[in-house]
Amino acid sequence: MTTEASAKKPEIKPATGKLGVLTPGMGAVATTFIAGVIAIRKGLAKPIGSLTQMGTIRLGKRTEKRFPLIKDVLPLTDLEDIVFGGWDIFEDNAYQAALKAGVLEKELLNQIRPELEAIKPWKGVFQREYVKKLDGHYIKEAKTKWDYAQMVMEDIARFKEEHQLDRLVMVWTGSTEVYIKPGEVHQSLEAFEKGLKENHPDISPSMIYAYAAVKMGIPYANGAPNLSVDFPAMWELAKETHAPIAGKDFKTGQTLMKTILAPGLKARLLGLEGWFSTNILGNRDGEVLDDPESFKTKEESKLSVLEYILQPELYPELYKNFYHKVRINYYPPRGDNKEGWDNIDIFGWLGYPMQIKIDFLCRDSILAAPIVLDLALFLDLAGRANFHGIQEWLSFYFKSPMHLPELYPEHDLFIQLMKLKNTLRFMLGEEQITHLGADYYDYYQG
Ligand SMILES: NC(=O)c1ccc[n+]([C@@H]2O[C@H](COP(=O)([O-])OP(=O)(O)OC[C@H]3O[C@@H](n4cnc5c(N)ncnc54)[C@H](O)[C@@H]3O)[C@@H](O)[C@H]2O)c1
Repeated sequence: MTTEASAKKPEIKPATGKLGVLTPGMGAVATTFIAGVIAIRKGLAKPIGSLTQMGTIRLGKRTEKRFPLIKDVLPLTDLEDIVFGGWDIFEDNAYQAALKAGVLEKELLNQIRPELEAIKPWKGVFQREYVKKLDGHYIKEAKTKWDYAQMVMEDIARFKEEHQLDRLVMVWTGSTEVYIKPGEVHQSLEAFEKGLKENHPDISPSMIYAYAAVKMGIPYANGAPNLSVDFPAMWELAKETHAPIAGKDFKTGQTLMKTILAPGLKARLLGLEGWFSTNILGNRDGEVLDDPESFKTKEESKLSVLEYILQPELYPELYKNFYHKVRINYYPPRGDNKEGWDNIDIFGWLGYPMQIKIDFLCRDSILAAPIVLDLALFLDLAGRANFHGIQEWLSFYFKSPMHLPELYPEHDLFIQLMKLKNTLRFMLGEEQITHLGADYYDYYQG
């Protein structure tokens, strides 16, 4: 068996030719990502928030002073080589959809209008019982879920041919579907494929897109909290086709703040009495989440974060009984510009109480767009390095990181970043950084 320590540096195929980035769901996040990449290519804006574009990585010892940009040392696809494609249940092209989403200013969109207008979604796979608040009519017609999957694969093959693409990746940027618990049909590939043919009700549209991608060996990331690719049947398929997969639910806004703050409180052994998070947002995502069944999927994803970071079983006096509540309120006047409030009741030395208040005036899609870019580029890199199955090193980007059933998920943003960068070092054949640092000081001559 190959252990971590004995694993050899992977051979990474070069990023030759074009990369197709597929986005099922061309709403606020997808269009902010697409318009952003096009604007950046034209020199109109900067890729702020993107690790692949602006992040550096320390290599070797501190005395070596090697801090290159990640994109200068790893063979990532160049932004110029990305081609966009996707599906929606509304016919709007990327320009119209971006205007409606109201995230980016019209002046910016008008400067890249022809490029955006050329991106027209293909008809979506959609059934209303999975997203109750939406009623789109730009949808495919077929008898079985199996047939829908074949149609998605045909769209992908045609797109690849038309644009002479070398490789593809898919990132789910569609709406949050209703909560589905993994059942029998998700336990094996055989059961899942049978379920597709028999229209099993526990197979949602996002699973159909995911199946189509993974079946074709295309890396897949899930930006929403739906199951999509997070069950044994898909893991089995990913193993068979060598597709890297990652998810779930982009870590932006309030949860991002939580996974920044909570590790700090725990590091200083400050106790937690309660954490109340509420927010108002008025985009289509907010409207979908107004449905209790879609919200339940989201709530599950948001609640578990603190439990894992704070480890109440190890620190019962500090974290055993904290009260955690998360609310999302649909409030149209705010559009994509969410306002999120957190009230955090903590206690310190001798049990004395203190409070922290956060008022985060954030822009959801502005935080999510660089995540879509990084995931697309890192998953494509993973595919070329022959990494497949669950890519835990990409947990950094998710609220509910996918993980093996026998492991707990890692939510601490700083551990996640270290894991990500150490994976990149491994790909480069560079030494892992432990931060021990004892040899600089000579304080131990054992
Ligand atoms: N923006 C963030 O910060 C953030 C963070 C975490 C997760 N997410 C998730 O990302 C997803 C996208 O968010 P958004 O703000 O762009 O939402 P949005 O409503 O603007 O866009 C979603 C798009 O998906 C389309 N869609 C829905 N079902 C579809 C289907 N079956 N096939 C094809 N298209 C379909 C909708 O018509 C819509 O255009 C949501 O699930 C959201 O929960 C967003």
